[in-house]
Parts: sequence; C-alpha cells; structure tokens
Amino acid sequence: MVETLLTNLPGTRDILPEEISSWHLVEGAARSIFARYGFEEIRTPLLEATELFARGIGGETDIVGKQMYVFQDQSGKSMSLRPEATASVVRSYLQHSMYRCAGLAKLYYVGPMFRHEKKQKGRWRQFYQIGAEALGSEHPAIEAEVIEMMMFFLESLEIRAHLLVNSVGDGKCRPQYIESLGQKLRGRLADLCEDCRRRAETNPLRVLDCKVETCQPVIDALPKIADHLCTECSQHFEQVKSYLQEAGVSYEIVPRLVRGLDYYVRTAFEIVSGELGAQNALVGGGRYDGLAEVLGGPRVPGFGFAMGLDRLIMILPEEVRAKGKRPPELFLAYLGDAAFRKALSLGRSLRHKGFSCHFEFTGGSLKSQLREANRLRAGSVLIIGEQELARGRYILKRMEDSTQSEVSLEDLVQHLQKRRCAGLK
Ligand code: HAM
Repeated sequence: MVETLLTNLPGTRDILPEEISSWHLVEGAARSIFARYGFEEIRTPLLEATELFARGIGGETDIVGKQMYVFQDQSGKSMSLRPEATASVVRSYLQHSMYRCAGLAKLYYVGPMFRHEKKQKGRWRQFYQIGAEALGSEHPAIEAEVIEMMMFFLESLEIRAHLLVNSVGDGKCRPQYIESLGQKLRGRLADLCEDCRRRAETNPLRVLDCKVETCQPVIDALPKIADHLCTECSQHFEQVKSYLQEAGVSYEIVPRLVRGLDYYVRTAFEIVSGELGAQNALVGGGRYDGLAEVLGGPRVPGFGFAMGLDRLIMILPEEVRAKGKRPPELFLAYLGDAAFRKALSLGRSLRHKGFSCHFEFTGGSLKSQLREANRLRAGSVLIIGEQELARGRYILKRMEDSTQSEVSLEDLVQHLQKRRCAGLK
C-alpha cells in the first residue's frame, strides 16, 4: 500500500533539479522572443467548465470524447482539467472584453495540460505546452508572423524541425468536402480500421489523420481538400504561403494534414522533428475564426499554436542544455570552526553582491570539500584555513586548470567580476 504512495501516477513525472535548467532555458527563450513580437503572458486556470472544452474543441474529437479528466465538484458542476489552452484563452479574452481594446491581442502561455492518453514515448498525461494566440486579425500575414516567430524560437535553441501546412477550408467549402469524403469512405468501410469506420460516420475528416497502415491506400485515394477550397480560402492560403516565403520560412504542403481539434478553419500547421520518433509533432496550430462565436461571444478571428515542451526538451542539443546550467561561481572550503564562521559571513556578503556561493555543512576534510566543489562544477574555490584567517589572505583555486594564488577579499570580488564579464562561471 505504502509503495503506491511513493510512485507518481502513470503518465505524470517529476521534473528534477538536474533537468530544470533546460526548462528554464527554453521558457526564458520563449519569453524573450515572444516579447519581441509583442506577445504578453496570460495565465488561465487549470480547471474550467467541461462545457468550455466540449463546445470549443468539439464533442466528437478524441480529446473531448476520450481523454479529458472530468470531475464533479461538491455542487455537482462538471469541470475538467484543461487538455489544451486555446479555448481557455478565448474564454478569458471574451470574459474580459479584450475585443473592446483597439488592435490585436497577442497572448502567450506556459503550463501543464492534461489528457488521459495511452502511454507512449513522448506522450504524457500531464504534459507542458508553450502556446501563443493572436486574436483579432484575419490577415494572412499574422499567420506567417506567428509561424516565423516559432521557427525563430526553435532556431535559437538549435532545434531542427520541419513545417507542414495545409488549408482545411471554412464553413462555406468544408461541408461539401466532408460530404464527398463521407461518400467515398462509405464505399470502402471494409478496408478501414475500426476507428476509421466510426469516424467515417461521425467525423470523416479525422480519417485523413489515421496512422494505421491498412488504412493508408484508402486515404491516399480520397479526394484532396485543396481541390475543394472556395475562392476566398484558396486565395487566403496563397497569401499565407507568399508571406511565409518572404519571411524565408520553408514549408511543405501536406494535403492530408487535419488537426485533432474541431475549431480550425483555413490554415492548419504542424512542426515535426525526425528526432522524436512516432510522436513526432512538436508544434500544432492554426486559424480558429469561429471559436469565439461557438463560445457565445462575437466573431473574433484567431490564429495560434502550442508547442509540446516535454518533447522539445527531449531533443534539446547537449551544447544548448549546457548553456542553461548555472553552477556556483564560488565554493568556500574551510578548515576549523573559526574558518567555518568566516565562510558563512563571506558567503552572505558575496551573495548580497550578486554572486552564487556554496559550501558544505558537514565539516569534512579539505579533500572531500574539493570533491564536492568538483561535483557542483564550481568555477573557483576559496580555501580558508587558520593561517589564511590570521593573515587576511586566502587561497583561490581556479577549477578549470587547478591553478592557485593568494588573494585578499577585494581581489576575490574582482576575480569573480572578471570571470562573469568573460562569460565564465
Ligand atoms: P495539439 O496539437 O493538441 O494542439 O497540441 C500541441 C502540441 O502539444 C503537440 O504538437 C505536442 O507537441 C504537444 N502534446 C500534445 N499532447 C501531448 C501529450 N499527451 N504528451 C506530450 N506532448 C503533447 C493544441 O493543443 C492546440 N491548442 C494548439 C493551438 C493553439 N491551436 C491554436 N492555438
């Protein structure tokens, strides 16, 4: 019994201190780059009314139908842990009448999402997303700008990824396409997997997304949405592509790309990485001009994306990870009680000056303290013994080449400052 209390739930995990520097690095890069594009952070609750997601994402989707964590609170109200944040952001945008302010609302978020999915590499039940939503513009250039921002962010982390785009049409042209898809599928039901047989009736578009091998020949022979787009959707897509080209963003058009959420119209996109394995989608997004109305608000065009942070961290290059690590600038090693007290007061004053200092409290030998400094990858070590205390001069050891010199406390501060300016720890 007790053992189960000592294990986290399947599909969840602890992000331990040795890994957290990579998370901080990635989140910091997102905050810095998104701010340059005018995005501001929004934090919405993890719990929302179930109806928000059922209506926003679509009752027939796998997310709403199979993957949500749904609860009833004491009053009997149904609420869910958010499986994604777009519906919440649009809810908040409407609730706070952000549409009354002139211009575009550019909002980004960082945080956990919850989906009860089958466990698989790169697939978690509590996972993290960084997402951005631009609300209030139908312009195709905003789409290229948001995608360009995402690619810039990935490049800054030396992640190589591939952009896939498609247009899924809109309320005018998509129903006819779905109708013709349904017709074709009904003639091939025997060749489809069980899920697709169901989807052929409930949501034929989702068949395009099926990964089951035996369904592939049927899907390849299905009509393409590109041949069914109305003039407006087709022109819009042409413009998105031309803005992407002007921004120097390369892409591949994938006519089969449909997304697992019902709110998308026109542009849908994914960014995939070959390094991820089967769950290769790093980013998913698109346009959702009808979502605000579906939730009971005015018509507000929107475009955005969400990136899987867990997956991004999995493929973050080692050199980039190393940049996020912040080992102590100074380790204070001491011999004897008086030196220990000096280390405490010196550490305090250096920390107040902005430097990171560590020491250990076990009173171990100098050798064991130096071992600890090595383990922590401290930049320098200051050795304080009785003699050093008496003379007010200490031994400073540079850990990268093990050179030693005698320094005063002023010399020490100068040494730490110089190293910081030189970008050394
Ligand atoms: P999504 O495609 O469902 O889109 O999720 C976006 C990304 O979240 C995926 O590409 C993947 O990297 C990550 N992700 C999804 N599920 C899991 C999981 N179980 N474990 C680990 N990572 C996962 C959305 O969520 C939309 N709200 C995106 C959007 C924003 N569209 C417009 N604005």
